[in-house]
Amino acid sequence: MESDTRDNINWQCLTDADAVAARATDLILQAAANAINERGVFHLVLAGGRTPKKVYQRLANAQADWKNWQLYFGDERCLPADHPERNSRMAATAWLDQGAVPEENIHPIQAELGAEAAAAHYATVIDRACPFDLVLLGMGEDGHTASLFPGQHHPDSESVHAVHHAPKPPPDRVSLSRARLSDSRDVLVLITGTGKRAAVQQWQAGEALPIAGITARHRITALLDKAAAV
Ligand code: 6PG
Repeated sequence: MESDTRDNINWQCLTDADAVAARATDLILQAAANAINERGVFHLVLAGGRTPKKVYQRLANAQADWKNWQLYFGDERCLPADHPERNSRMAATAWLDQGAVPEENIHPIQAELGAEAAAAHYATVIDRACPFDLVLLGMGEDGHTASLFPGQHHPDSESVHAVHHAPKPPPDRVSLSRARLSDSRDVLVLITGTGKRAAVQQWQAGEALPIAGITARHRITALLDKAAAV
């Protein structure tokens, strides 16, 4: 594993997607143990898309003090709650349906209500939880993260945004704001596949991509496989 830190971002390059998932799982479990030891609770924001699925499948087989985990979502797609393309359903089928984390500790975004209503409600949920201990994020091939897309602007006053005309389907989404995704002790970004390489290069070159706007109180760790690394 190659590793270097620039601008408070620790870049780690691992062999492949499985190695990224294994490393991410270790970092998440360690962050949880530290948070629970220090504060009695671990506030974790889950990422959507496909990349985190391997991590969630590993967490389903891990041992942890699950009753002290509180789970949130960085974004959600405006689809019915049981739709297979929902980020909450991906996490449920890969991990949460197993039942180790108490249901009352899992806080899905109610995107089935529509973007505006869901965003307004979820702002009240996460305003009580911040600062998070760890925020998991993916990154799209255009450098988007959560549902913060290039060229789309949202009021800085909002904790949670209603998103429309998203270039990645579905068009209607709900997303935590850049500020709220950054309101965390640590941030862990999972990036795999050759399709992400150009955006990684732009991010490292300082381009103002949505992912590049994310900060953390302590550190951002970006885990890449060789296919995505420049
Ligand atoms: C979503 C995610 C999105 C995702 C990236 C990467 O709703 O799709 O929130 O931000 O993390 O698009 O997606 P993959 O992990 O599938 O490449």
